[in-house]
Amino acid sequence: MPLKLADKISLTIHDLAFGGEGVGRIDDFVVFVPFVIVGETVEVEITEVKKNFARAKLLRVVTPSPERVTPECRYFTQCGGCQYQHIGYAAQLRFKHKQIADLFERFGKIARELVAPVIPCPSPYGYRNRIMIRSQWNGPAKKLEIGFIRADNNFVVDIEECKIAEPVLNEQIKEVRANPPPKGGIKVVLRVQPENWNVPESSFFQNNFFLLPKLVETVRGFLKSSGAKHLVDLYCGVGFFGIETADVVESFVGVESDQLAIKAARKNAETRNIKNGEFIAAQVEDILPELLQKFSPERTAVILDPPRKGCWPETLRLLRETRPAQIIYVSCHPATMARDLNILCAEGVFELARVQPLDMFPQTQHVECVADLRAGQNLAKPPLMDSN
Ligand SMILES: C[S@@+](CC[C@H](N)C(=O)[O-])C[C@H]1O[C@@H](n2cnc3c(N)ncnc32)[C@H](O)[C@@H]1O
Repeated sequence: MPLKLADKISLTIHDLAFGGEGVGRIDDFVVFVPFVIVGETVEVEITEVKKNFARAKLLRVVTPSPERVTPECRYFTQCGGCQYQHIGYAAQLRFKHKQIADLFERFGKIARELVAPVIPCPSPYGYRNRIMIRSQWNGPAKKLEIGFIRADNNFVVDIEECKIAEPVLNEQIKEVRANPPPKGGIKVVLRVQPENWNVPESSFFQNNFFLLPKLVETVRGFLKSSGAKHLVDLYCGVGFFGIETADVVESFVGVESDQLAIKAARKNAETRNIKNGEFIAAQVEDILPELLQKFSPERTAVILDPPRKGCWPETLRLLRETRPAQIIYVSCHPATMARDLNILCAEGVFELARVQPLDMFPQTQHVECVADLRAGQNLAKPPLMDSN
């Protein structure tokens, strides 16, 4: 092992890994460093040494990248919320595109040409419509910290404002601080309600309003191009995708486990006078066998927008067996998405037509992706997979 703890070394950064850390090398030994940019030479101090890699903290940027910019937030590098404020926005988009193309190529054996350039957010700061503030008692300082989880440990960093949150949430942060929680260990969710959507307090809604039109345009475009007549909107929340694409299909059905979200989805459809859809409160994996039997696969599209952990293996197995004409997979977690696409596309059961990334989370490591999958053309009958 060439390195030990507290070593101070000079490194050239040649890649930006998923999660936002820069990748440097000492011989063939990888060193991860946060808050750097590809092409920079930096001085770092080793903070962790493992068998195959080390981590280091940034001490000094010796040769700055032309893409380096001044972060807008005074808590950047302390707060764990953002990883990329030091990178100009155009470069953030390029790095995210490369990360997704690399990941899909490596993990899902998917050709990188299928990944379109990342659609930018019109508002790279001040966009988040939901944040979670935490309180934590700081014993040594005898003080209640109110803020976010730190970048380098699980303590809370005290913050007075958040530059990526919508301005109205920053007003709410002031109110929370003026009337602080009585003790540590309390989570306070601050949220801007979307206009014209009924969303229960604890139900999911997309957390960047600025990029919603492009997200809808992408999903609508994919759906239209397949010509599917029926839509099965799985993990539908308050009915967002089903309702926004209701005019593209003859009928749709939304499935969601959050009962309050389903009630809200019915109201959301009613206020828009949408009558060609229904909403079912159920676990996707329980209802899917029965549901897919109702539609002829060659006329059906399925939207998958699962939580970060991705789809259950049983759900993927059933989709492979039933083989609807199209699957539109929406995800904010490219790694689980690549894993699931790999399963769906194995043996040519589905073919990936394209992936559209959207920058729903500027300044952070996260990125939303929408994938368009079509039933494989060269297969008479899909091979059955082992359900285990
Ligand atoms: C990423 S959100 C997507 C919501 C919706 N498509 C939208 O755009 O607003 C994932 C949703 O899946 C729901 N969910 C999680 N596990 C589920 C399951 N096993 N069956 C059905 N719904 C589930 C969650 O309650 C959440 O509303």
